[in-house]
Amino acid sequence: MMDTELMEVVMGDRPREGAGSDRGLMRAAVFSRYGSAHRLELRDVGRPEPGPGEVLVRVRASSINDWDAGRLAGRPYFTRLFTGLLRPRNRTLGCDVAGTVERVGAHVGRFRPGDAVYGDIHAAGFGAFAEYVCVDQNALEMKPASLTFEEAAAVPHGATLAWQGLASMGVIRPGQSLLINGAGGGVGPIAMQLGKLRGLEVTGVDRADKLPMLRELGFDHVLDYQRHDFTAGASRYDLILDVRTNRSPFRYARALKPNGVYVTVGGASLRLLQVFLCGPLIKMLSGKTTEVLALRANVGLAEMGPLLERGELRPVIDGPYALEDVATAMGTFERAEQKGRMVIAIE
Ligand SMILES: NC(=O)c1ccc[n+]([C@@H]2O[C@H](COP(=O)([O-])OP(=O)(O)OC[C@H]3O[C@@H](n4cnc5c(N)ncnc54)[C@H](OP(=O)(O)O)[C@@H]3O)[C@@H](O)[C@H]2O)c1
Repeated sequence: MMDTELMEVVMGDRPREGAGSDRGLMRAAVFSRYGSAHRLELRDVGRPEPGPGEVLVRVRASSINDWDAGRLAGRPYFTRLFTGLLRPRNRTLGCDVAGTVERVGAHVGRFRPGDAVYGDIHAAGFGAFAEYVCVDQNALEMKPASLTFEEAAAVPHGATLAWQGLASMGVIRPGQSLLINGAGGGVGPIAMQLGKLRGLEVTGVDRADKLPMLRELGFDHVLDYQRHDFTAGASRYDLILDVRTNRSPFRYARALKPNGVYVTVGGASLRLLQVFLCGPLIKMLSGKTTEVLALRANVGLAEMGPLLERGELRPVIDGPYALEDVATAMGTFERAEQKGRMVIAIE
């Protein structure tokens, strides 16, 4: 018998669980209170139905992103204005999805049942930690055939951050130096591969135990952030891509060569605000660019498709973990013990 609480159609940024009875049930990892990994429970919930313009995807794999952990924790606190002040309105996480189209709603022209698809569905309401999810057709792309569903699920959110981060740096010339701060997570390895494809010399900064993996992946140089502060050393870089902004923008500008470009995709909220506010002043004083990137869902995914298809871009996977083990996997992510993108496989 289905839990009465879960029988409600949950009103959130949009409902992710169907009413159930006549459509059948599905397994989903849900959370009904903000907190850490132990809040995630595997439950039977109503299977959703595709509305106009929507696609019902049978989820084969998802992956754990920083935004999933942030939604679960309800942090930063101001985000609860959008996700539910006291309790989460939308109770299923999972912004990366890879799976097959089960059914299409009215006015769907891009996909047919059976198509293998993937995408970042954060703007369409999350929900991929479940056997099925309904999403707007525009939140999906055809999955590159050479990728498994597990590999594909590791791509969209992180790879598009990497793509858009590099795209926002302007003209990139072969031989330039790129430093990636926070290189061993979901964004760094793809950013490095994109950089190498464009002839850049790439330095990765991360914790000591991840550095051998980074060297093996193809980083030219690696730095342990617990022993080296790259903003204090003598080296200067043409380009810096940061996923962990935790210093003043003036320190980052110091690490840039003349006319260099620093782009942050994430980090401490106050530091991001400083980068945003001080960017024009830094530009005026030094000619260097310091910017915050605002992610646009799936922008760059279509362009990366052929690179993924040919194996010129390879996602780095930690796992896969079973949906039953999603709470344990989320705990590993919260303790930052993952190496690469943690993938959840759904049978
Ligand atoms: N701009 C946007 O619109 C947007 C949208 C979505 C997400 N984001 C942000 O994008 C980022 C996603 O990056 P990701 O998926 O690659 O994150 P990730 O998987 O969590 O990886 C971050 C890496 O940085 C390392 N790290 C931790 N502290 C560090 C430090 N002080 N110096 C250097 N490295 C450090 C971590 O290692 P440890 O094991 O030591 O922790 C980890 O390997 C997040 O910051 C997220 O909030 C931004």
